[in-house]
Amino acid sequence: MTLCVVALLSQCALALAQSVRVHVCNADTTGNLIPKEIYGQFSEHLGRCIYDGIWVGPESDITNIGGYRTDVLEALKAIRVPVLRWPGGCFADDYHWMDGIGPRESRTLISNNNWGGTMEDNSFGTHEFLDYCELLGCQPYISGNVGSGTASELAKWVEYITSDSGSTVAQMRRSNGREKPWDLKYLGIGNEAWGCGGNMRPEYYSDLFRRYTTYTRDYNRAHGLYKVASGGSGDDYNWTEVCMREIGTRMNAIAVHYYTVLSWSNKGAATSFSRDDYYRTLSCALDIESILLKHMEIMDKYDPEGRVDLFVDEWGTWWDVEPGTNPGHLFQQNTMRDALVAALSFNVFHKYTSRIKMCNIAQVVNVLQSMVLTRGDQMVLTPTYHVFDMYKCHQDARFVPVEYDAQQIPGTGGRAVPNLSVTASGRDGSVWVSLVNPSLDKECRVDLSWDDFASYTVAGARVLAAENITDYNDFEGDGAQAGASCRVSPRSFMPARKMGGSGVMLRLPAASVVTLELKAL
Ligand code: AHR
Repeated sequence: MTLCVVALLSQCALALAQSVRVHVCNADTTGNLIPKEIYGQFSEHLGRCIYDGIWVGPESDITNIGGYRTDVLEALKAIRVPVLRWPGGCFADDYHWMDGIGPRESRTLISNNNWGGTMEDNSFGTHEFLDYCELLGCQPYISGNVGSGTASELAKWVEYITSDSGSTVAQMRRSNGREKPWDLKYLGIGNEAWGCGGNMRPEYYSDLFRRYTTYTRDYNRAHGLYKVASGGSGDDYNWTEVCMREIGTRMNAIAVHYYTVLSWSNKGAATSFSRDDYYRTLSCALDIESILLKHMEIMDKYDPEGRVDLFVDEWGTWWDVEPGTNPGHLFQQNTMRDALVAALSFNVFHKYTSRIKMCNIAQVVNVLQSMVLTRGDQMVLTPTYHVFDMYKCHQDARFVPVEYDAQQIPGTGGRAVPNLSVTASGRDGSVWVSLVNPSLDKECRVDLSWDDFASYTVAGARVLAAENITDYNDFEGDGAQAGASCRVSPRSFMPARKMGGSGVMLRLPAASVVTLELKAL
């Protein structure tokens, strides 16, 4: 069963509200599956993402399970993280996996040259990462070192992880405490090869991709590794063009990166911004749609059968670091503005899942647009976390097409920001409709109806909204916002039943995200 949602928008004459009609109609079409990997995460040895964020070590006073902090683990389980990318980012092309195996006390000490020169003791390595993925119940996605590594080093890493043979490398894994191979599917061949991953040209990188992947054999799985090429940044279409031409279907996916950043030289504060900054941010986030469409157009030219997937394995907002924190650690707060960016981005990703199969927000803990932030033994859930929670229903559900005639919000300084964004999906007799009202000051009245009205009922709805768009969740104690930790969190939200049995009415607060569930009776 899938449903088709038709949203008819019209600006209403009311000063403080817009009126929107959304119609859900029965249809026998089956939309694409929304791969759960669209909800992927990214973890990097950067700032306090791994150390303090995921890993505190078994001796820590912070409650942990074998060294993994329990609060973060439980929070991530709750949003059903499907896939976790590691160890970078830029760190990946400086990472030598042999530094991170064996007894922790004798692992190699290195300087994390990309991220503030912080000392890295490699106490979180291959075993710790892959065991964490097992605990979380997610797929690992490893980014291999192409920039400063060798093909042989990468081939041996894959063998170490996946081989059940008696080879010296597989025996080394056993002597380090892991008898059975891990299940590794996703392998990234470098990261940002055009930049921190080696400053290469796409022609040269394409040849390296062909060479490295000749030797990365999967020893454990019948169907081989899923090999991901390092893609371009944002609108670097030439990178995609060359890789598609020179690598083609030798790769399983190409991964572009897209950050919502207002200006690389002046990113602005995460928690203090103007109305203009707000609309610029949403418009910048929404630009991802036209950018991805152009990458997909190039891919269609070389691969009309759609055998190569498109990943967005780094995305999200990038602000100035929080005052007083290490500039190389990219620690930023996360407001309701970030939550809207996340929801609007998902609404875009859901539309193109015939090609887009994985997206990984940067980064899961304590860096850029994180799910959770930690300080000592405290943890807060960010507004972005709540969007992941409210949208997890869409994981592996069937896309339900949404048609609507959105109006641009006036007074945004010419930025293209629509007055409503809707996405929907269905599975097992449920249909979920997620709606975003990006307007900073206007409530949006939605009249929601569906065919076969008597067969469905509203099972529930949740709304995420805040008093101020700059609101965020913070730690208790010094410097915390008043009422700190759960200032921004979802509330239940019951639509009003309309007279005459034609539907329900929802009043979406300004700058809010709503997910509503319809259930077959
Ligand atoms: O996410 C931070 C950095 O941004 C990553 O390490 C890199 O891939 C990108 O430039």
